[in-house]
Amino acid sequence: MERHPTHMTSTTVTVSAPATVANLVCGFDILGLALESPADILSLSLLDEPVIRIRNLDDFGLPADPEKNICGAVLASINRQLPSHVGFDLVQDKRIKPGSGIGSSAASAAATAVAANILLGNRFTQSELISFAMDGEVLASGARHADNVAPCILGGITLVRTVDPLDVLSIPFPPLYLTVIHPHIEVKTSEARSLLSPEVSLKLAVKQWANVAGLVTGLHQSDYGLIARSLEDFIVEPQRSKLIPNFYPLKKVCLDAGALGGGISGAGPSVFMFSETRERASAVEDAMKQVYARTGIPFLTYVSTIGKGVVQV
Ligand code: HSE
Repeated sequence: MERHPTHMTSTTVTVSAPATVANLVCGFDILGLALESPADILSLSLLDEPVIRIRNLDDFGLPADPEKNICGAVLASINRQLPSHVGFDLVQDKRIKPGSGIGSSAASAAATAVAANILLGNRFTQSELISFAMDGEVLASGARHADNVAPCILGGITLVRTVDPLDVLSIPFPPLYLTVIHPHIEVKTSEARSLLSPEVSLKLAVKQWANVAGLVTGLHQSDYGLIARSLEDFIVEPQRSKLIPNFYPLKKVCLDAGALGGGISGAGPSVFMFSETRERASAVEDAMKQVYARTGIPFLTYVSTIGKGVVQV
């Protein structure tokens, strides 16, 4: 990807940044996709003085201090690559609840990187934007992972082959619809990561990488049967499922309602399912609602297809 010459624009740039689903069941930290909705709205302008100002229009109580804010971390990282620091005024209206497991921090980070790049005359490559956005993810979860920010910036389904050096591939896919349920319980990504054993048995690793290869091949070949068979996680889901009330009953009713398969979205607590059609995804949504209505835990559900990632609006 090429660098473009720098020329700054003085207008305000507004972008929409969608929710993302990371891991895609068997691809912990490497696979992810962009939803069409929900999406955050973020506006960014250049300032004459080298300061960063952040305003949050939503009610999520996110810090306005740039040193504690994900967007501030991304802007600081961009500034380090510029010959002289520039100032930014950032206004964020988040629709993706922080801690939901559908890439709320990634949407903030990706939106900031893309909007700043437009203001700065598209001087950075998409790989560089993903790298800046990962600096925001580090602030959010302590981990430099790209499986949310890469699909948020590139759209579609992505495979992060390596983070350092960054090597991200876009994977072709057939029509797919996602049903997502977001139970209103808190699961911190940092905690959901810290409970994972650092060791994996060779036997399970073999089963897992067979599924990753099967899923990627199924997506390439539009083979829904292969996609469905590959949507099994032998490593992370067994350790994290206890964080999500009624996870296995939920999964069962979704499969009974015709979902291809699914699992925990990112670090949770959201759970997602793939379906071949929007009608099937809506039937899966009804099934999810019935299971969760019995728990007394408030929740939201979404049906979405796979989206284009961050767009200027
Ligand atoms: N791959 C990350 C994890 C995604 O599962 O911890 C976090 O959204």
